[in-house]
Amino acid sequence: MDAIKMLQGKKILLGVSGSIAAYKAATLIRLLVKEGAEVKVIMTPAAADFITPLTLATLSKNEVPVNISDHNSWNNHVMLGRWADVMVIAPASANTIAKMALGLCDNLLQAVYLSAACPVMFAPAMDEDMWHHPATRSNVEKLISYGHQQIPVASGELASGLFGEGRMAEPEQIVEWLAQHLRKTNQNKPLSGKTAIVTAGPTIEHIDPVRYISNHSSGKMGIAIAEALADAGANVQLVLGPTPQQTAHTGITTIRVQTAQEMFDAVTTRYPNAGIVVAAAAVADYRPANVADKKIKKGEAQLHIDLEKTPDILRTLGDSKGPQQLLIGFSLETNNEKEYALKKLREKHLDMIVMNSLADAGAGFNYDTNKVTLFDKHGNERSFPLKSKQAVAQDIVSAIIELQHA
Ligand code: PMT
Repeated sequence: MDAIKMLQGKKILLGVSGSIAAYKAATLIRLLVKEGAEVKVIMTPAAADFITPLTLATLSKNEVPVNISDHNSWNNHVMLGRWADVMVIAPASANTIAKMALGLCDNLLQAVYLSAACPVMFAPAMDEDMWHHPATRSNVEKLISYGHQQIPVASGELASGLFGEGRMAEPEQIVEWLAQHLRKTNQNKPLSGKTAIVTAGPTIEHIDPVRYISNHSSGKMGIAIAEALADAGANVQLVLGPTPQQTAHTGITTIRVQTAQEMFDAVTTRYPNAGIVVAAAAVADYRPANVADKKIKKGEAQLHIDLEKTPDILRTLGDSKGPQQLLIGFSLETNNEKEYALKKLREKHLDMIVMNSLADAGAGFNYDTNKVTLFDKHGNERSFPLKSKQAVAQDIVSAIIELQHA
């Protein structure tokens, strides 16, 4: 089973309702956590009669709320519903299925379900006669018509001692079902199966233990690109310089670096497996030739520090670019912007360069907005107005998708 890759970092919200099969929730949580998923659990009060919230909290490493208000505090059902990548209700009792079909909201699980913005799956668990009752059949059909996925029930020995249909699917099958769902969702995305590296943020180059050379990059532009690539299905490795900015996107693995050399090492080791590289980082071009191991003391009126060139990451990647790799660079200038951008496109063997200029108001370092022009290796030039960095990232990713098919 290839569940490992699919569930890694995914946020799974497990709703447990009242059924003897609630004990299987413990195994289900263990399997999901083992696959790298982040699991939050909510229970109905009836479920808590079958297995304790403490057991499920211990396994999921998260509190397990049961009621709309617990311990004098209100459980935010809307935020829980929005947090999840997928909500799974397992076991889904006949009662819970009926309430979901009707949109009733008399417990926390129902409130979260009605607030959930993510795909919903449910694994029914009940006795055979209940399963075949026309009311249950019609409720299940309703849930399917809402776009929810029903995880098939199994046949076997039931809680009543009878044999027949209605048993909840085994935890392993539920995990596989989830992995398949995530695989399918990903398959429809234009960059699914692609690995992308994005550099973002500044680098710092040490002078001594207390001082360094750096620049004003916040990392916002690069992070927005990483998120847009991940939304398009790419598996993104974000090589991020020192900045308080971060991303919680589940399709992104962040590798933190400080210096140009560390960024170079992090990118070049990953490069052979990458299909797309976007270099949005503001990498220091020079670093002190010698880093003092003790704080430099104040002395003469002037202090001279010898600087040496840092490795040019993008040029190194361009020099060894494979036929299937796409390399996108940035160009940040204050003057002669187009001339310098085209020179970098050519000399660094890029497929596309994103030009932004500090001469444009609202563009460049630290703003939430940017104004870019894209030049590609086929001679196309596209200018965009000032936009949010998220919208700029969308334009860049659309251009990358076009370049893939060019
Ligand atoms: O991070 P923000 O605050 O959101 O700001 C965004 C940004 C202004 C930093 C971004 O939009 C941007 O322009 N990034 C590139 C800045 C830059 O260093 O440009 P450059 O023209 O000096 O470098 C050209 C290209 O070579 C860049 O893709 C750069 O990442 C790369 N480079 C540069 C030097 C070096 N040693 N190695 C490199 O890979």
